[in-house]
Amino acid sequence: MDKNALKATAKAMVSAGKGILAADESSSTSEKRFASVGVPCTEENRRQYRDLFLAAPNVEKYISGVILHEETIKQNANDGTAFPVLLQKKGIIPGIKVDKGTKDLGLHPGEKITEGLDGLRERLQEFYKLGARFAKWRAVITIGKGMPTMACIHANAHALARYAALCQEAGLVPMVEPEVLIDGDHTLEQSYKATLATLKKTFEEMADQDVYLPGAILKASMVIAGKSAKKQTSPKDVAKWTVKCLKAAVPKDLAGVVFLSGGQGDEQSTANLNEMNKLGKTPWPLSFSYARALQNPALKIWAKDLAKNVSPARDAFLFRAKMNGLAAVGKYADSMEKGRPYSL
Ligand code: 13P
Repeated sequence: MDKNALKATAKAMVSAGKGILAADESSSTSEKRFASVGVPCTEENRRQYRDLFLAAPNVEKYISGVILHEETIKQNANDGTAFPVLLQKKGIIPGIKVDKGTKDLGLHPGEKITEGLDGLRERLQEFYKLGARFAKWRAVITIGKGMPTMACIHANAHALARYAALCQEAGLVPMVEPEVLIDGDHTLEQSYKATLATLKKTFEEMADQDVYLPGAILKASMVIAGKSAKKQTSPKDVAKWTVKCLKAAVPKDLAGVVFLSGGQGDEQSTANLNEMNKLGKTPWPLSFSYARALQNPALKIWAKDLAKNVSPARDAFLFRAKMNGLAAVGKYADSMEKGRPYSL
């Protein structure tokens, strides 16, 4: 394992004022996102859609890395450059989603296990050759009656640790993502308990597998009440409980923490991250790795006219990227939304 290279990559992924664009939607997720705005989910439309973000002028001002889908890492941008090369030229680190999605966990109805360890060593070597320098694996933890079970937390944490070890062996920084879902009507306290147990187990398993933490990134979900809970969580409480949870479970020598948006609103995701960074110094940089919260306004604009709306869609994306870049250093204010270049 080349610890110095891993550490340098991980550090660059969370450099001040920048974050990660998650552009690794699976074909079924892309299908749903495109259907929601009436765009046919063809391979060419997916390529054009990815070009919109990855080839946006000055995207490197706010984005340090991009998580690519296996399809995209092998495609070319509109100017003929391979997408990972285009990113490298801009100083953006190409990443790759390497899990194979979730299946029902045996004997535990309602819970999921992420698959993809078989053949992973060889796939990682291939992605490294294509230019990837980090890799993401998403585990899913559901809150509900009697859930999450320790069986689900343990199985997923173990898989995350094994994937992380293989990544580091192959020269890729693992972006370890145990997502506690926001779906449901659970309370803030339930979210805190589930997230704490998940993170503790994940880092225990990573220690058992000798994962090198200064060369690893955690992609976390925020501690927040369920989407349909009666009492929603204010940004101040999201910040307080998320940071408390991280401090209780995440070793100090980890390179950084980035958050997923998980179905939160675009501005809500920005405001919550900003409040965390306003709380003061944490052992790790806290930044973003959003898909929907960065892409949604752009997708809606682009969908109205795929050929003519590339430029306004890019403006919308770059605006959200800029706001989140400010939130990553606690310098965002919701009054800044007045200056945004789009209306939906
Ligand atoms: P969202 O920000 O849309 O939750 O996506 C992030 C991600 O990469 C989920 O795996």
